[in-house]
Amino acid sequence: MINVALPKGRLGEKVYAMFEKAGYECPAIKEVNRKLVFENTQKQIRYFWVKPSDVAIYVARGAADIGVAGKDILLEYAPDVYELLDLQIGKCRMAVAAPKSFHDNGEKTLKVATKFTNIAHRYYADKGREIDIIKLNGSIELAPILGLSDVIVDIVETGATLRENDLEVFGTIVPISARLIANKASFQFKTAEIEKIAAEIGKQVMA
Ligand code: PRP
Repeated sequence: MINVALPKGRLGEKVYAMFEKAGYECPAIKEVNRKLVFENTQKQIRYFWVKPSDVAIYVARGAADIGVAGKDILLEYAPDVYELLDLQIGKCRMAVAAPKSFHDNGEKTLKVATKFTNIAHRYYADKGREIDIIKLNGSIELAPILGLSDVIVDIVETGATLRENDLEVFGTIVPISARLIANKASFQFKTAEIEKIAAEIGKQVMA
């Protein structure tokens, strides 16, 4: 049996569709209910819906053999997993944004609000810029509007959230997309099964 951690939400539905097309369907997953675990014993596959930012934890600890996580989470938490495939979905970028009127004064410590403190630390350390990180858990865009921070480091997908809050991108840190990841021990013991899934899904990425 292969245990798959799917990120709950719109991205997860796209990911499941790729597994289905790859031959690992599990029709029960489409029933509208609050269940979190679904399996197809004949196909030897079990899916569970996990909060997207938790997928890497389930996989790193072996509760799931494989899963799909955003590159943002992999960069931020560096979980001990194999990254098998870029699924080319869930595309967005990690960016620095600020109010349009923002002018960086290199002399002053820059106040940076973000959920991604490690990514922000690394980015500014490489630039040799001194920063003060303000860790938030959501609605990051509010911080510079209220003067809590000078800039934010956050995910930009369509740019709508920034636009509607009079913020703009001042720099892209890294492009992001969803990745198929595997637990290292599972990959050792279930190599053939996991490689088959990765290959079938890989065909869809290329198509
Ligand atoms: C993410 C991100 C931005 C928004 C970007 O937030 O933090 O706020 O999406 O998308 P856009 O460029 O298409 O507007 P999310 O919806 O995950 O909620 P959050 O505020 O809890 O981070």
